[in-house]
Amino acid sequence: MNTPNHDMNEKICVVTGAARGLGRAISETLARAGAARVYACDINMAPAEDWIDGYHNITAITLDVCDPAALSGLNSRIMDEHGRVDVLVNNAGITRDALLEKMTESDWDRVLDVNLKGVFMMTRAMLPLMKLQAKGSIVSISSVVGTDGNIGQSNYAASKGGIIAMTRGWAKEFVYGGAQIRANCIAPGFINTEMTQAVPAKVLEKMTARIPLGALGEAQDIAEGVLFLASDRSRYITGQVLKIDGGLVL
Ligand SMILES: NC(=O)c1ccc[n+]([C@@H]2O[C@H](COP(=O)([O-])OP(=O)(O)OC[C@H]3O[C@@H](n4cnc5c(N)ncnc54)[C@H](O)[C@@H]3O)[C@@H](O)[C@H]2O)c1
Repeated sequence: MNTPNHDMNEKICVVTGAARGLGRAISETLARAGAARVYACDINMAPAEDWIDGYHNITAITLDVCDPAALSGLNSRIMDEHGRVDVLVNNAGITRDALLEKMTESDWDRVLDVNLKGVFMMTRAMLPLMKLQAKGSIVSISSVVGTDGNIGQSNYAASKGGIIAMTRGWAKEFVYGGAQIRANCIAPGFINTEMTQAVPAKVLEKMTARIPLGALGEAQDIAEGVLFLASDRSRYITGQVLKIDGGLVL
């Protein structure tokens, strides 16, 4: 599964929420696939201390996807260092679950800020660096909850559904003037990360029973999908949502 290959062919990549979980697997996979540089961004880079030094082509950036000054700083830095971005993976995301009547405005605001506004802001900051070469691939991590909803996740479902709608618009908007800037989503089902480890064991058991392939997915399952959508192997695919969910939502 971790065989080195050259699908990233010297590409410059930016991954958010990269310190752990899916973002870590995605960063490592892009780096192993030959990326010239992966800018691994996270509001808390501490969990990356264990693994990031193993990669000569990954740079750790501590950054909040909602902080416009930090995003503009990242844009300037990448402009100076490489003059382009080839791949952006919008992966940072959080949950603040509650049944609707118990959901506070701050639960709503924080989830929408990080999961949806953060994707808008990061993409707005990186797009000029793709436009310089009229080429690029944006992969945003949505969720099956964004298409199918889930109990106690009004805020999360709205944010993940919003990412899909935004992506479909981008697939049309970013090709203006003949540019080859693609935008796609991945919608994971239940994947084994710290995020799902926070779910009560009983709920997790029930969830697993609903998955046709009979188990939670692993972070690497998502990273393989990202690698495909980020690479030129998917050059004719844009505006799509790739579900990686063991058949959960059919
Ligand atoms: N794990 C799953 O089952 C699952 C399923 C569907 C979708 N997803 C989505 O996949 C993505 C990654 O999930 P995960 O399971 O790896 O979660 P995780 O909680 O393990 O990792 C998320 C990372 O995002 C970072 N982050 C949070 N807020 C940030 C901010 N404002 N700016 C920058 N970084 C920030 C966190 O520090 C963390 O390192 C999320 O968008 C999540 O919604 C996960």
